Amino acid sequence: MGWRAKDIHSSADARRLARRRLPWMVFDYIDGAAGEGRGAIHGRAALDAIKLHTRILRDVSKRSLSVSLFGNNTKAPFGISPMGMCNLSHPGADLMLARIAARYEVPLGVSTVSSTPMERLIEEARGHAWFQLYFSGDGTGTFKLVDRARSAGFDTLVLTVDVAEVGRRPRELRHGFTMPFRIGPRQFVDFALHPAWSLSTLWHGRPQMANFQMPGYKFDRNESRAKADWTTLDKLRDVWPGKLVVKGVLSAPDAKRLSRAGVDAIQVSSHGARQLESAVAPIDALSTIRDAVGQDMPLFYDSGLRSGEDVVKAYASGANFTFLGRILQFAIAAAGEEGLQRLWQVITEETSITLAQIGECSLPGSGPGESGGTDARDAASRQSRQQ
Ligand SMILES: Cc1cc2nc3c(=O)[nH]c(=O)nc-3n(C[C@H](O)[C@H](O)[C@H](O)COP(=O)(O)O)c2cc1C
Repeated sequence: MGWRAKDIHSSADARRLARRRLPWMVFDYIDGAAGEGRGAIHGRAALDAIKLHTRILRDVSKRSLSVSLFGNNTKAPFGISPMGMCNLSHPGADLMLARIAARYEVPLGVSTVSSTPMERLIEEARGHAWFQLYFSGDGTGTFKLVDRARSAGFDTLVLTVDVAEVGRRPRELRHGFTMPFRIGPRQFVDFALHPAWSLSTLWHGRPQMANFQMPGYKFDRNESRAKADWTTLDKLRDVWPGKLVVKGVLSAPDAKRLSRAGVDAIQVSSHGARQLESAVAPIDALSTIRDAVGQDMPLFYDSGLRSGEDVVKAYASGANFTFLGRILQFAIAAAGEEGLQRLWQVITEETSITLAQIGECSLPGSGPGESGGTDARDAASRQSRQQ
């Protein structure tokens, strides 16, 4: 393993190394959040406010991080959030994520705006891939993509519902970030100051929105997605025979309505704080939603998970599965595929060690039909953030 990968001992290390290597425009696109970033800070504070209770003298020598997900056992308790244009962090980043998904038998979220075609990604992930769908415009292109995902062999569709309009992220706007990106004088200086990234990216070709490189598929990142409503969901439920997950839910009434609408799982997420600066902290929404929908509805969680302790906190707050986002791109930007493997191993070890500290051998809610109420689910408590 190269020296840069060996330097990753935490997700913060990966971020620090990525920051050095990536052009400012790309780093700020990945790292950025809505507005001045206060939502991200608030989300972090909510995770920090959850305290885990240590328990002693329990035999925790045989721990398992395997989780039951739609009836299959995964080899890791976290999967990969769908992220657009991953190859901006490193050429081939999408494929690296696909390979690690295959290895740990966890879902790779394939974004509508992935930088590698969905067909190639599901193949590289050996089937461990879910297609993430953005509704866009009048929905014509959207439903074409659904047909295409089905033909490509996807059996799980993730409808992202928290982007009625693309959130304003001043950190990326200041650099003139567009997709596909244009190189003006400002970008030229930025790229010149980050030669390692620039040379390898130019060598491999500017990353593209690969799912739209075929006739009949158009996508404008800034096009309004505001037309989607509950009838869109019903229509999708009617045409999609596989599992349907709805991602970007933060409200208990919405979650209850989704479970009545026949979705197979709900993904509690604030889109990594990229959409609404004043949104409720997603980890707080998770426990509220768990209480509202009861124990049988599968709940997935992403947003702000930075360590194994965070992963355990999400399970203890009601999640049945978790997803990691930007930190995986930072690990790749820092040290390529080795960096990704290294950070994966770090988060895995952190999760396992955390279980040992709280006297548990598996993640709360990780077994089939075991959505909560275990001893370990009581392992976390929230401290008042006023303190
Ligand atoms: C650079 C970037 C691109 C993203 N693109 C998408 C996307 O295309 N579709 C989607 O549903 N979510 C997208 N997300 C949101 C992630 O799926 C996920 O909700 C978020 O990254 C989780 O938060 P975390 O990065 O703090 O772990 C993106 C996030 C980032 C950072």
